[in-house]
Amino acid sequence: MAKVLNRKTILVTGGAGFIGSNFIRHELESYDDVVIVNLDKLTYAGNLENLKDIEKKYGLASLNLKPKTQDLRPDLRYFFVKGDICDRNLADSLLSGKYFKDKEVGQGTHDARLMTPDSIVNFAAESHVDRSILDAVPFIDTNIKGTQVLLEAARIHWQNLGSGTRDLIPNVFLHISTDEVYGSLGKTGEFTETSPLLPNSPYSASKAAADLLCRSYYKAYNLPIILTRSSNNYGPYQFPEKLIPLMIKNALERKELPVYGEGLNVRDWLYVEDNCRAIDLVLRKGNIGEIYNIGGENEIENIKVVKLICKILGEKAAGDSRLDELIKFINDPRGKAHDFRYALDCSKIKKDLGWKPVSKFEEGLKITIDWYLSNRNWVKKVVTGEYQEYYKKIYT
Ligand code: NAD
Ligand code: TYD
Repeated sequence: MAKVLNRKTILVTGGAGFIGSNFIRHELESYDDVVIVNLDKLTYAGNLENLKDIEKKYGLASLNLKPKTQDLRPDLRYFFVKGDICDRNLADSLLSGKYFKDKEVGQGTHDARLMTPDSIVNFAAESHVDRSILDAVPFIDTNIKGTQVLLEAARIHWQNLGSGTRDLIPNVFLHISTDEVYGSLGKTGEFTETSPLLPNSPYSASKAAADLLCRSYYKAYNLPIILTRSSNNYGPYQFPEKLIPLMIKNALERKELPVYGEGLNVRDWLYVEDNCRAIDLVLRKGNIGEIYNIGGENEIENIKVVKLICKILGEKAAGDSRLDELIKFINDPRGKAHDFRYALDCSKIKKDLGWKPVSKFEEGLKITIDWYLSNRNWVKKVVTGEYQEYYKKIYT
């Protein structure tokens, strides 16, 4: 049992989604002493398929154990909990250790203490701009109210910790935010961490509200908060409602490739693994109370992204060199809420923590396309009837 004593137990919320699942894999594969408790509501965007390999390798399934096990083995390092971050009782139960004690994971108080998260990484969110324009309510509930529930639960539990309770491992509440809180840029300029918050969609407004709540919990209660604001992520396991996986999926099915407006909006693409490395660094070495921008240094117009996908896919699959004939420019469903350009000044995280993005866009895109080509069943499984309904609403 000695091996488990100093382990780090992270409550990851929204870990069944795109970035969260990549982050969980990154942590468990990089460290022997990390335990992950993944709290996810499993909305349309959350899928246990994303972590099938992880459940097999590190979860109860790997050991053929039922949750009621007497043995908290060092190789049992991944626990999934289906639930809502808005559920205060559940948050309390997880942060106090009661949840696992009740399930008899481990041998009582001692192990329950080790199952008590020392840190929270809050990925859970409604994350798609177009959906937020159709209906803002879930965005207000999860992104704002849910974050406040977690903040309050962390405040109560972490302030009540007695001396000697996991005091070797400092508590950190790492909130995952986005560059979209800064609003839109023109053709030039970059946002720094002190740029004003000027969100333009219900999604980005809800994320900005959560950022401000985090700030207030740091100021008012000294809660150990850190924020990251990243640019657009891409990579394996991204739900096919976002630009890159949607275009890959449609091109493979020889369906129209719907480009909003003239396709001239600019995004800065960050390979998800680069973001996971940054989040890990911030969690372990970041300064409490700080905000860190995380950008990919890959600014590119949407139409160029889509054409590049067509080119790479054309070369890799089916030898079809005319996939770009599928491109269709459509009326912009976002209207004035469609931010023209995002770009981040990342000098702070580079200077303070020594991070930089390493993936070049075309290389990252090739790896991503290969992943989607090898995981066509994953795509089939994650798009349900709900996806078809959503697709009709936006694209017809
Ligand atoms: P995602 O939509 O793929 O996943 C979100 C996850 O949260 C899903 O597993 C979902 O089931 C879960 N969830 C939703 N509501 C919940 C609730 N009430 N309780 C518990 N779980 C809930 O999102 P993503 O792309 O992985 O983004 C993760 C985080 O990163 C979000 O906070 C998002 O705002 C932020 N972010 C994303 C990007 C990007 O490009 N994807 C860029 C910057 C920041
Ligand atoms: P998206 O992946 O939804 O990320 P975000 O809006 O959060 O940056 O969209 C990226 C860009 O691609 C954005 O400018 C909107 C555009 N877009 C399209 O042109 N067509 C589409 O079908 C989608 C989903 C997005």
